[in-house]
Amino acid sequence: MDGKALMAARYGNALPTTGVPLTPVMELMMQHRSVRHYTEQPLPEGALETLIAAGQSGATSSNMQPISVIAVTDPDRKKRFSEAASGQSFVAEAPVILCFALDQSRPARIGADKGEDLWALPLLDNFLAGATDAAIFAQNVLLAAQSMGLGGCYIGNFRNDPEFMARELSLPSQAVVLFGMALGYEAEPQTGIRPRLPQSVVLHHEHYSTDVETTALQDYDAIFAEHEVAQGRPETTWTDRHKARYANRDYLSGRINLRAILGRMGFPLS
Ligand SMILES: Cc1cc2nc3c(=O)[nH]c(=O)nc-3n(C[C@H](O)[C@H](O)[C@H](O)COP(=O)(O)O)c2cc1C
Repeated sequence: MDGKALMAARYGNALPTTGVPLTPVMELMMQHRSVRHYTEQPLPEGALETLIAAGQSGATSSNMQPISVIAVTDPDRKKRFSEAASGQSFVAEAPVILCFALDQSRPARIGADKGEDLWALPLLDNFLAGATDAAIFAQNVLLAAQSMGLGGCYIGNFRNDPEFMARELSLPSQAVVLFGMALGYEAEPQTGIRPRLPQSVVLHHEHYSTDVETTALQDYDAIFAEHEVAQGRPETTWTDRHKARYANRDYLSGRINLRAILGRMGFPLS
């Protein structure tokens, strides 16, 4: 697909006016699709370490690097992970699952070694900084994997039961899996590029504005519903999906108790 076709796939007919042609890196980004069907083919030898190098190359708040990644290939463990992640079959199918952990146990050990009271470590601010770092790390990994012809999908459902994940991975206190990522070679059926919101509701100039929001969201609802039908999924609009996502206890699974769970795992979020 050329740049124009990629833009059309990403925005439907709500195309932004762009003045700069897509670079090869941007083209790769614009081709992003979450992949949920995998062949059994493992990653090439050494690929994992190269991908982690790409991940570690991202920016990290104050260079504190509070992230640990646990790579899981054991079929039985992946099956248990799939069950823990609301039964999503791709989690068991993918050759490798990366678990991205916010790891404050490492700084805590460093503090203990140096006899320092790292009193600010448990602050909510450092949790947010670590979660941001994890996302930057992971997205670099995913983009690097996609550049090698691999596909991937994030797994937020690992937050359904963070204590189960911690037991499975032998995580110490003050370490928690924020999300996972399945990686592998894509199998049929392939998913299409999922359209995103029009830039008129996302990009603001100088100040926030909702002037065009209502009409832009109506446009997006139509684009989104058409895409869903083309993918063989039910015809739903994007705005209608908000109820299922933000007003549904079942969707949340154990995540409704996350604050208490994190407290038990060594994250008081004070
Ligand atoms: C943090 C995070 C967690 C996610 N968790 C899941 C998940 O558990 N299962 C899943 O199928 N997709 C998951 N996704 C993928 C999103 O559903 C997907 O990115 C979104 O629908 C847009 O589709 P696209 O990635 O194909 O463009 C997750 C994405 C992110 C960023």
